[in-house]
Amino acid sequence: MSRSLLTVILAAGKGTRMRSQTPKVLHRIAGRSMLGHVLALAKGVGGEKLAVVVGPGMDDVRSEALAAASGAAVFVQENQLGTADAVLAAREAIAQHTGDLLVLFADTPLITQETVSALIGELDRGAQVAVLGFEARDPGSYGRLVTDASGALVAIREAKDASADELAIRLCNSGVMAFRLDRPLAVLDKIGNANAKGEFYLTDAIALVRDAGGRAGVVVCEEDEVLGVNSRRELSVAEAIWQRRARDRAMTDGATLIAPETVWFSFDTALGRDVLVEPNVFFGPGVTVGDEVEIKANSYLEGAQVGDGARIGPYARLRPGAVLGRDVHIGNFVEVKNVALGDGAKANHLAYLGDGTVGAKANIGAGTIFCNYDGFFKHKTEIGEGAFVGSNSALVAPLKIGAGAYVGSGSVITKDVPAGALALERSEQDVRPGWAEKFRSMMARRKAAGK
Ligand code: UD1
Ligand code: MG
Repeated sequence: MSRSLLTVILAAGKGTRMRSQTPKVLHRIAGRSMLGHVLALAKGVGGEKLAVVVGPGMDDVRSEALAAASGAAVFVQENQLGTADAVLAAREAIAQHTGDLLVLFADTPLITQETVSALIGELDRGAQVAVLGFEARDPGSYGRLVTDASGALVAIREAKDASADELAIRLCNSGVMAFRLDRPLAVLDKIGNANAKGEFYLTDAIALVRDAGGRAGVVVCEEDEVLGVNSRRELSVAEAIWQRRARDRAMTDGATLIAPETVWFSFDTALGRDVLVEPNVFFGPGVTVGDEVEIKANSYLEGAQVGDGARIGPYARLRPGAVLGRDVHIGNFVEVKNVALGDGAKANHLAYLGDGTVGAKANIGAGTIFCNYDGFFKHKTEIGEGAFVGSNSALVAPLKIGAGAYVGSGSVITKDVPAGALALERSEQDVRPGWAEKFRSMMARRKAAGK
């Protein structure tokens, strides 16, 4: 019986330890900002209403929030007075909302949908507030979850305010909380700042709910899920955890990864069935791969669509707008950008295909270059079905090569080639029989004469 959900995402932290011009929550994991990951999580658990709390002047964080979730409301927390104050920056959204309230942190991007659903499930089981906890390897400065003899959560104690007994508790607060209260603002407004940090602690909501006769529930997850990112090193740890999960998911879904630890996915990589991925393959954002595709070692793909049965690499580079039909072959040291290749088209060796189309079953020889750029504008190369482009050809765009046409090797083609024609652009071959022997004896004589 889950109810309408408002998710408040705290994204105000500047992240000074990142030593970056970029606000912390815009740093990326698997090609998507941490804020983007958390917004996707909120949407995934059915958070139809989203409020993002940013710091003053964080216009780029606001834009990212709106790009990822156009319906999100963005609020500014003017002064960082604590986590309760941060949630209250979204007062207007909370006041208008009837239903559950979920608080997530934009710098904690690895929490899974299952875990958040379990947290909301605690509310369904009668809790007015539910906290996501974890057994900390090193509890350090985390808030401790204080339970009574029956194991019920009675309070969260911040480390700076905790007694020695409380500090010994290993069950810690991740920060993530969910509320099912008729008037959440009545509780949040009661939170004071008489504590060691002089901050308004969201965690004080637990004791307040309990005092009013409510129940506080706890859901425990793995520490990895609630990793908070405060430095580049932690960012890399989060990336590693994310990648490990993505590799497992890809294999569960029917892809073979020969050396999973060397394959890098983006947040939106989509692989079909029976895809084989060899070692050292990198997927940038926006790649979809059909069924029974082979991606050979050391290939780099981004913004590309790969049709069923295609063979990519080794050492191939597919850039945005590469759209490959069925059974297309893109071989070693071939770069494809903004080109659609029809079914069965091949470019197997050493080529640049940029801006254009290649018809079905066309064959692009080794060393072919689409000369798409004149220093000012990009132009298109259109190659018809079944055309054959000989090796080491420069195709100077704009250019059309008709269906079934041939381009002789080594040609620089600047004019359109009609269907079925041969275009050849090179000087006549000059053959001189016996020349080599004469040349060698002449040179040998010169050398013997010392000049
Ligand atoms: C908080 C929790 C603590 C928990 C820990 C988990 C409180 C009082 N304490 O402590 O129990 O174990 O997180 O990491 O909630 N933020 C704002 N505005 C503020 C203050 C914080 O947006 O005024 C954001 C921060 O950017 C950060 C998050 O809230 O993303 C947590 O704040 P932080 O100051 O790191 O709290 P902790 O002391 O770590
Ligand atoms: Mg913290």
